[in-house]
Amino acid sequence: MSLVAATGRTRPRARLTGVGTYVPERVLTNAELEEMVDTSDEWIVSRTGIRQRHIAAPEQATTDLAAEAVNDLLARTGTNPTDVDLLIVATTTPDYVFPPCAPIVGTKCGMDHVAAYDTNAVCSGFMYGIAQATGMIESGIARRAVVVGAETLSRIIDWTDRATCVLFADGAGAVMLEADDGEQGSGVMGVELGSDGSSPADLWVPAGGTRTPRSEDTPLADTCIQMNGREVFRFATRILVESSQRLLDEAGMTMDDVDLLVAHQANERILDHASERMGIAREKVVMNLDRVGNTSSASIPLAMADARDRGLLDAGAVVLMVGFGAGLTWGSVLVRWEPRA
Ligand code: COA
Repeated sequence: MSLVAATGRTRPRARLTGVGTYVPERVLTNAELEEMVDTSDEWIVSRTGIRQRHIAAPEQATTDLAAEAVNDLLARTGTNPTDVDLLIVATTTPDYVFPPCAPIVGTKCGMDHVAAYDTNAVCSGFMYGIAQATGMIESGIARRAVVVGAETLSRIIDWTDRATCVLFADGAGAVMLEADDGEQGSGVMGVELGSDGSSPADLWVPAGGTRTPRSEDTPLADTCIQMNGREVFRFATRILVESSQRLLDEAGMTMDDVDLLVAHQANERILDHASERMGIAREKVVMNLDRVGNTSSASIPLAMADARDRGLLDAGAVVLMVGFGAGLTWGSVLVRWEPRA
């Protein structure tokens, strides 16, 4: 049974008050990929919608990207870093096996002694992070939480595998969630989270963990992302619709109440198929994957910031976020956008 809950029925509520982002400077175009593997700009654009993506510099790791996004968020919301009491980093590509990224990011951003840990639900990780932060705020444990999605997927891409190297990329996004004791507004209105671990090999990195530790004999490809694209496509289109509907039903809302769908930016065709089945107008579906590719945990905050920058995200807008990916895992969050002026 998946977890579905309408939240915000108790006080305090968790309000979403800001989003900050960072993408590395280096842009990798489809034309450059044509020089690296047997592919074409035409194939990549028509099958995925992706035209370019950002790739971290050799000296940049995930905490560097995450810290840039958090600093952008702190600046935009005018937040003193020492006022943040919870920092969650959602990532699949941490700097190290341990320690986690979050304590390092906290220190880089001046959040002295902040409660900080990582969470890994791959492309759904950011949704799980928001759910955790919401739970901590609504139960009174935390007052001001930063949730970051950050990935350096370029380090686990097999650059000779045309099926995956055209899809994945690097980036980071962060949001602020704040306790609000007032009577007005709705903040985070609900979450739906679930998983199906019956076929982990549909999307995975087979070696390098405790089941198959990396050794001298490990083929490079086994330490990189491997994917059954067709299965993942089928799962993604189905779960995007189902998770959204379960959440809207629980919250007593319909798709007509949603102002913006910010779904994981995996593939334009997945978003097209799903939004058609959901009956949501095309102009309400945020799409920035043409410029950033699939950035896993970072994808949803990057898309949300893109909508803000293009004037599509009005204060008070009801936003439906949906993540899905390896695990398989999925997660949806329904939230009102209440930016700090
Ligand atoms: N360039 C050119 N040809 C490519 C290619 C590339 N980058 N990648 C695969 N192909 C080829 C295949 O080898 C295959 O050739 P064949 O017919 O000679 O065997 C052909 O294109 C069709 O492959 P197929 O896998 O059926 O393509 P598709 O239409 O399913 O598109 C994906 C492939 C990966 C774009 C699609 O399956 C997809 O988006 N899946 C979901 C992936 C995803 O989003 N993962 C992350 C989720 S978090």
